[in-house]
Amino acid sequence: MFADMKSVQIVTTIAELRAEIARWRSNGDTIGLVPTMGALHEGHLSLVRQTQSRCARTVTSIFVNPAQFAPHEDFDRYPRTLESDAEKLAQAEIDLIFAPTVAEMYPKGFASRIEVGGPSVGLETDFRPHFFAGVATVVAKLLIAAMPDFAIFGEKDYQQLLVIRRLTKDLGLPIEIGGGAIAREKDGLAMSSRNAYLKPEQRKVAGQLNRILSGAVQSVRAGKTIATEEAHARAELLRAGFDAVDYVAIRDAVTLEKIEVVAREARILAAVKIGGTRLIDNMAI
Ligand code: PAF
Repeated sequence: MFADMKSVQIVTTIAELRAEIARWRSNGDTIGLVPTMGALHEGHLSLVRQTQSRCARTVTSIFVNPAQFAPHEDFDRYPRTLESDAEKLAQAEIDLIFAPTVAEMYPKGFASRIEVGGPSVGLETDFRPHFFAGVATVVAKLLIAAMPDFAIFGEKDYQQLLVIRRLTKDLGLPIEIGGGAIAREKDGLAMSSRNAYLKPEQRKVAGQLNRILSGAVQSVRAGKTIATEEAHARAELLRAGFDAVDYVAIRDAVTLEKIEVVAREARILAAVKIGGTRLIDNMAI
């Protein structure tokens, strides 16, 4: 029975992270990084597996980053489950967890902030103006601390993935940024650590997000106009029981610019609210 009990090393400082990675590098190992805010679910674990299939060593970072939350958002109640996360990562046989404190990532006097333009403009930024600077700053710090060959981010936060690709390119970091397909529950709801906030009746409504976006994709493929389908999807989401629709938008999949017709790869993206919980989802057209 005890033979099954696995554990994984946890380090909390950048110096320890760098020392461990330097040791692996000296053996010629390739390094993969899976940045997370913890409360791990199957979506995160699929990112871990993808990284393990490409790199000799996999590090997962767990850090609830205060810089990407506005004062009125859910930083304080965001789930923190380090013990069970560590168990899941031990089962997945990753090599190291980096779980820094806020003081380690943002020591006294910290005064820098990375602003990314391009794909940051619009959508999430219209509703969470602080968000991408917070993400870009912490992701740049994590990438520079670990200097992996490969780092991966989930496609559920599709705009975030494009912002991180832009950031990595603009800073000239020699790191490949991968995107992991969205892991979904049986009814199609995209897996998210925030799904834990949903009450049973809200959870039922939440499953409609994916259904309504899929319907819009089918209609656009069948020839309906983008403007018609965006308006129709918004009305359907409200009818299904969501309290607010921040946006539902069909955009160019590479630049996230507005489009009038689908002439090349496009994506539908949405953010909705139910009770105090905000959910996002997206899919290819
Ligand atoms: O997607 C997330 O979990 C976070 O935004 C990230 C990329 C780990 C940065 O804090």
